Amino acid sequence: MGLRIGDIAPNFKIETTKGEIDFHEWSKGSWVFFFSHPADYTPVCTTEMGRTAQLSDEFAKRNVKSLGLSTDTVEEHNGWINDINETQNTNVGFPIVADKDKKVAGLYGMIHPGESETAAVRSVFIIDPNHKIRLTMTYPMAVGRNFTEILRVIDALQTGDQYGVACPADWQVGGDVIIPPSVSMEDAEKKFPQGFKTVKPYLRYTSVNK
Ligand code: BEZ
Repeated sequence: MGLRIGDIAPNFKIETTKGEIDFHEWSKGSWVFFFSHPADYTPVCTTEMGRTAQLSDEFAKRNVKSLGLSTDTVEEHNGWINDINETQNTNVGFPIVADKDKKVAGLYGMIHPGESETAAVRSVFIIDPNHKIRLTMTYPMAVGRNFTEILRVIDALQTGDQYGVACPADWQVGGDVIIPPSVSMEDAEKKFPQGFKTVKPYLRYTSVNK
C-alpha cells in the first residue's frame, strides 16, 4: 500500500543540489511541495522546474518549501539547472534530490513500473508543517503539472485549517467556503458570526479572509 493522505511523510537523508538534507529537519515548521520528475535534460521537466522557480515568491508567501526529485546525480542536476535558468529566465533556488539509487522514489511510490522501471512519474506531495501528507497527485510523464492548481490547493488547505471550513469545486481565494456538516447549526452561529447561507441543512456557505 502506498502513501496516503493523513500519513506522516517518511523521513530520509539524501544528497541534493543544496547539500545533504534530513527531510524532517529541513522541512520543520514549513509546508512542502515535494515533486518528482522523470529525468534531467527533458523538455516538460525543464518547464516545470522553471515554473517552480518563477513562483518562488508565491511559495514563500504561503510558507512552502519546494523540493524536486529525479533519479539523476547532483552533477547532472547542476548542469541542467544552468539550462533551466537560461531557457526559463529564472533562478532555481530550491534543492533537487539526487536519487540515483531510487531510495526515496521507492519510499514515496514515485516509480510506476508500467510507465518506467527506472524513472519517476510526476508525483506531488503537499506536506504540512507537522509532516503530514495533505495531498497526493500523480501526473503521467508526458503532461506537465498545473501550477495554478498547486497553489490553489495549498491556499484551500491553509484556509480550511485556519477557519475549520471546506472549499467547494473550483474554489478560488476570496470565494465562499463551506461549513462542514459536522458543525451543528448552533455551533455554526457562534463560529461564523459574519453569517452564513443555508441552501440545504448540509450545504451552508460563508465567507472568510485568506
Ligand atoms: C519530458 O520532461 O519532456 C519528458 C520526460 C519523460 C517522458 C516524456 C517527457
